[in-house]
Amino acid sequence: MTDFAILIREWYQKNARNLPWRAENDPYKIWLSEIILQQTRVSQGMDYYYKFTAHYPTVKDLATASENEVLNDWQGLGYYSRARNLHAAAKYIHEVHAGIFPGSYEEIRQLKGVGDYTASAIASFAYNLPHAVVDGNVYRVISRLLNEATPIDTTKGKKLFKMAAEELLNRKDPATHNQAMMELGALVCAPKNPDCINCPVQNHCLAFAEKTQLSLPVKSKKTKVRDRYFHYLIIRHKGAVMLKKRGSQDVWQGLYDFPLIENTKNQPDKEQLKNWNIQQIEKDTMLKHILTHQRIYAHFWLVEVKQFPDKDRYVWVDMAELDAYPMPQLLIRYLKSAPHFEVE
Ligand code: ADE
Repeated sequence: MTDFAILIREWYQKNARNLPWRAENDPYKIWLSEIILQQTRVSQGMDYYYKFTAHYPTVKDLATASENEVLNDWQGLGYYSRARNLHAAAKYIHEVHAGIFPGSYEEIRQLKGVGDYTASAIASFAYNLPHAVVDGNVYRVISRLLNEATPIDTTKGKKLFKMAAEELLNRKDPATHNQAMMELGALVCAPKNPDCINCPVQNHCLAFAEKTQLSLPVKSKKTKVRDRYFHYLIIRHKGAVMLKKRGSQDVWQGLYDFPLIENTKNQPDKEQLKNWNIQQIEKDTMLKHILTHQRIYAHFWLVEVKQFPDKDRYVWVDMAELDAYPMPQLLIRYLKSAPHFEVE
């Protein structure tokens, strides 16, 4: 074992947070935790981990649930493709592997929604296989340790950091080593306020020596944020409201929202409203909703129509039944704030 590996291991054993999936050796539950944590902070993911392991204690329970049910439980966590892939992969394990979670890196990597990071995490945590994990935390730790400014979002950078992680890996106990690397990134080697004074590997850190830690890691692209203007038509009839199941090619695939008109303005165009046979339209409210790559300005319009549209994918849902339909957080916020809807 290298000095570096010994130091982070000792530090981890004294300082690690007590997280439920760390005491777990069921690969299925480790997989669940890793998918939940992919784009989610530990504090937010925890409740969902408990909810999913309670509601779906085995692969079979998840595989035999409906997609609506799974999306409904995922509601509020965002990046819903994770839930759809999770469900599809559970069905695959149930049907092709007789419900037994695959035991090799290669087979795990084949599962929908599982990339190199997640396959390495499951292979090491569940089976102690020697695969180094490289997530956002690990990129930060290694880029600083080596004072390495190759951008992490390039093919060259990804290869370089993966190779460095494999070299640093403690092959005797990959599970603890990987957890320790991530924990160091989460608790000490933080993005803006790294706690270098208390870092167990300060003496090994080239960025600390050069005082470059705050400019590492480097990314080549800035995340572009796009403004979108949504106009939701609230069409009600006898205690029911019209919803639409969202299709692919956009955010919130498979979730439900109201009939939607999109443009680049603060109100819908006359032309866009033409198809809707509108008798009366009244602005209700506007909510701003921030996603990683989009700023959505959502305008909600109370609409009376002369004739109900008869279109594919539109459904009438009783107001009391709205809970059974998975929806984006934006709509949950709206429903909670709107006196015309009775939701708990
Ligand atoms: N983020 C992703 N996986 C994690 C894990 N196993 N422990 C803590 N944070 C994580």
